Amino acid sequence: MSSDGMRRQHRFFAPGRVNLIGEHTDYNGGLVFPAALSMGTYLTVTERFDHFSCGFSSDNEPKAFTLCGDALTERQQAWVDYPLGVFKEFSDRGWSVEGYDFHYSGDLPIGASLSSSASIEMVTAVALNALNGEPFTMLELVQMAQHAENDFVGMNCGIMDQFASGFGKKDCAIALDCNTLEYEHVPLEMRGLKFVIANTNKKRGLVDSAYNQRRSECQQALETLQPYLEADNLCQYSMEQFGQLSVHLSGDVLRRARHAVSEHTRVKEAIIALKNSDMACFGQLMNASHASLRDDYEVTCPELDFLAGKAQQFPGVLGSRMTGAGFGGCTVTLIAEDQVEAFIQEVGDAYELQFRIKADFYVAEIGDGAGER
Ligand code: GLA
Repeated sequence: MSSDGMRRQHRFFAPGRVNLIGEHTDYNGGLVFPAALSMGTYLTVTERFDHFSCGFSSDNEPKAFTLCGDALTERQQAWVDYPLGVFKEFSDRGWSVEGYDFHYSGDLPIGASLSSSASIEMVTAVALNALNGEPFTMLELVQMAQHAENDFVGMNCGIMDQFASGFGKKDCAIALDCNTLEYEHVPLEMRGLKFVIANTNKKRGLVDSAYNQRRSECQQALETLQPYLEADNLCQYSMEQFGQLSVHLSGDVLRRARHAVSEHTRVKEAIIALKNSDMACFGQLMNASHASLRDDYEVTCPELDFLAGKAQQFPGVLGSRMTGAGFGGCTVTLIAEDQVEAFIQEVGDAYELQFRIKADFYVAEIGDGAGER
């Protein structure tokens, strides 16, 4: 408590992200190209009257928690596991925070492939870091947040989402090499274009197990190919090398690996296209990415295929693809600004007629990464 008896309060924010291209390449040591959104998770941290427990509540969740001692680093099988996983990361390194209320709110749709989980983890990480006097760098916080999701929550995700939330920059996409963690902010010079996100609002079930299965299929492909040509990860193989090696693979494992290698190549081309302001080329690569995720990686669904397919035929659209893990969630479409309104109206109506669910649309605003706000 401060000397004037007021309870100290801090507010933090961590954004969600939209991945422009480069899906399921992060855990294959490849390139990704996400951008942080202006939508995300806010966390208000308020000093409590006691100095040993922590309260957790959220505008988006009915259940609140008051926890202390070991319970602050133990799974509760509830939404609070996302913050608690990060508490455990701090505690494992000898840092603790007690005597605060953590209240979460935000404007990011939950579980819609825009990294709501990563934004909760990252906002918790920057808050705990600030309350402890900033012992960790942003990269360390990103790695701790990813580790929390892998080990505590049980989703074997790559580093893209937490990285994008931590390292976002206004009006820039992040070209990240997930093998070396080298990255570059690439300005999004939109020249009369917009990225529009369409949320299928399809309830996703069992995403974690299907995701983890894709990861192990890629690992299996890598282990099969390594004796023929040494590599640390699938994205180290060029398209040409993979073409020769692929005789040693078959079925699902072949198709999963083919997606990883081809998607990595597409990201490389997309980054160059964006730097050259060749938005038509960027859009074609987005379309090719969607096709590969549908046919080889098999992580789309009828709702995503419908939205991307309708978009790809819509006047003024340069490209459209699913974004994030897949199985539901969102598409992202590169479209001429003056067509956005008609697009939202017409594609939205067609979607509702087909699936009896309303899609939600957001015109993407690209913002800064996590921090105190
Ligand atoms: C999820 C994961 C990321 C990444 C994407 C697919 O968002 O959290 O690490 O693998 O799926 O590109």
